[in-house]
Amino acid sequence: MHFQWYPGHMTKAKRMMQENIKLIDLIIELVDARIPLSSRNPDIDDLGKNKARLILLNKSDLASEKGNEEWKKYFEDKGFYVVKVNSKNGNGIKNVNSVVQDACKEKIERDRKRGILNRPIRAMVVGIPNVGKSTFINTFAGKACAKTGNKPGVTKGKQWIKLNKNVELLDTPGILWPKFEDQLVGLKLALIGSIKDEILNVEELALELIKFLNNHYKGLMEEKYTIPEIENNAFALQNVAESKQCKLKGNEPDLVKAANLIIDDFRNGKLGRITLEFPDKS
Ligand code: G4P
Repeated sequence: MHFQWYPGHMTKAKRMMQENIKLIDLIIELVDARIPLSSRNPDIDDLGKNKARLILLNKSDLASEKGNEEWKKYFEDKGFYVVKVNSKNGNGIKNVNSVVQDACKEKIERDRKRGILNRPIRAMVVGIPNVGKSTFINTFAGKACAKTGNKPGVTKGKQWIKLNKNVELLDTPGILWPKFEDQLVGLKLALIGSIKDEILNVEELALELIKFLNNHYKGLMEEKYTIPEIENNAFALQNVAESKQCKLKGNEPDLVKAANLIIDDFRNGKLGRITLEFPDKS
């Protein structure tokens, strides 16, 4: 799902989020494990203050394990509960339930002191478009879920998915708007395929990816595409075009085709598990 964001969309998304946040105890925020900071919108920290917070490093199958561990620690140090998940195949999902209980232990304790027993935790899933919110809800809710329906007067129009006797999930996720005004963030969002209007054309995007891979995953491009050692990114793109038989009429290398190939291979995990950004250690 791709979105074109305009100020009006953001205002509407923010207003809906504010309304829904009033109804919940816990925010389950999905970020893309390959770009955990660039795929977040810190406005949620302000909107969700006073709520329990859980960050899911989703698509962790596409990011490096070292990166996943570093980001888990980074967010935990900031006070978030964190779980690495693959919403597509369900890896890590079974850990979410117990972490939800842990993240909400203060609320559970508050309820207990007031004599309220077994009131379910209410949670909402949020994240930027394409981060995997719907996939997560489907996998997490699984077959066991049942919609609790509208509760007149209290949650008019809202659908809650009863996950088990302890947790209810709002069935519509909150959509956060990406921070596309930042060029570097825009580049990374374009690389993972999260924004429609790439800020760069496909060749420039591929060149940025080659540059990054050559700096951080040395030797990978050469190995995957059987090309000579990279000395110049533009030559590398040309070499991939030749090696993969991407040709225009007249036998000229088809650089656009080669660029698309590299970007698709990255997005599909064919280049391996790649994290595009790491926590700032300074
Ligand atoms: P959204 O609601 O936040 O907009 O995202 P959605 O669930 O639609 O997921 C967007 C894409 O990300 C989907 O791929 C989905 O399969 C994929 N996805 C979600 N979670 C994971 C994950 O943990 N790992 C991986 N590898 N992929 C994930 P799609 O290309 O739109 O569809 P399809 O390829 O599944 O058919």
